[in-house]
Amino acid sequence: MEKRILVLGANGQIGTVLCKALVKRYGKQNVILSDIREPKEQISQFEIIDVCDKAHIAKVIDQFQINTIYHLAAILSGNGEKNPALTWKINHDATVQLFDLCVEKKIQTIFYPSSIAIYGSKTPKINTPQYTSFNPSTVYGISKLTGEMWSAYYHSRYGLDVRSIRYPGVIGWQSIPEGGTTDYAVEIYHGAIKEKYYNCFLRANTRLPMIYMDDVIRATIQLMEAPSENLTVRTSYNLASMSFTPEELYESIKQFIPEFKIEYKPDFRQQIADSWNESIDDSNAQRDWGWKPEFDLQSMTADMIKHLS
Ligand code: SER
Repeated sequence: MEKRILVLGANGQIGTVLCKALVKRYGKQNVILSDIREPKEQISQFEIIDVCDKAHIAKVIDQFQINTIYHLAAILSGNGEKNPALTWKINHDATVQLFDLCVEKKIQTIFYPSSIAIYGSKTPKINTPQYTSFNPSTVYGISKLTGEMWSAYYHSRYGLDVRSIRYPGVIGWQSIPEGGTTDYAVEIYHGAIKEKYYNCFLRANTRLPMIYMDDVIRATIQLMEAPSENLTVRTSYNLASMSFTPEELYESIKQFIPEFKIEYKPDFRQQIADSWNESIDDSNAQRDWGWKPEFDLQSMTADMIKHLS
């Protein structure tokens, strides 16, 4: 059956890039985009949708005969701490409501992103296993972890085919993240190119798992196209690519922009980053749907600078 896709949260950091890839792959006529705000660029049919408005989503599903949903709308870790109640409403309540709607409307496949924010101080920091202890420290992390649990629940109870990846920090030149803890790794390139200076809100030695946007898009589409019977993880797949510190990222950029200067002024996000992990065991994703990253720190920096310059 032909895919008829609805994207919720199409204007965000990942949505902006993923939507273009979906339009290219499945055709403009099969991809409906939505967000709470107008898009910067109209690449396909676009609807203003508040992700909390179940009736509106139901109407759009019927109107466009949607059978596949990418649910990307969420408030990230840093911004989430400024308004926990709203973050819970959008990240958690709207998600459970959407899963219910997907059961009602017999949606075939849903993509629901999780995050490294589900890990916590009790999670092994190095080579974090797929199944281990989780104690997220942010409302964003709690909402993503419960979202994973709901994904597994809706799959086992209703047969709903929810698929999910625990994204590391995402870096890309095409879009700007809003209010996350890993945002520094995008901002730093803009600072390096425009001002030859960046004031980093994390300490120099904070090692976090990261991934380049091209790999994010490839992973997401690969998972969404994998045969359902191959998928053994119904919470969310661990996904690994690279891990580095702000200092290592700075050094990689300096090879291209030698006059680039950095200063470190950690803010409240340092505590969030300290609760996250450093590297990830993603053997389930490798085995179940053939995951393999293509970019490392060196090739990512070269590509970022080429595009942003
Ligand atoms: N990039 C996200 C954040 O920093 C993590 O999923 O909040």
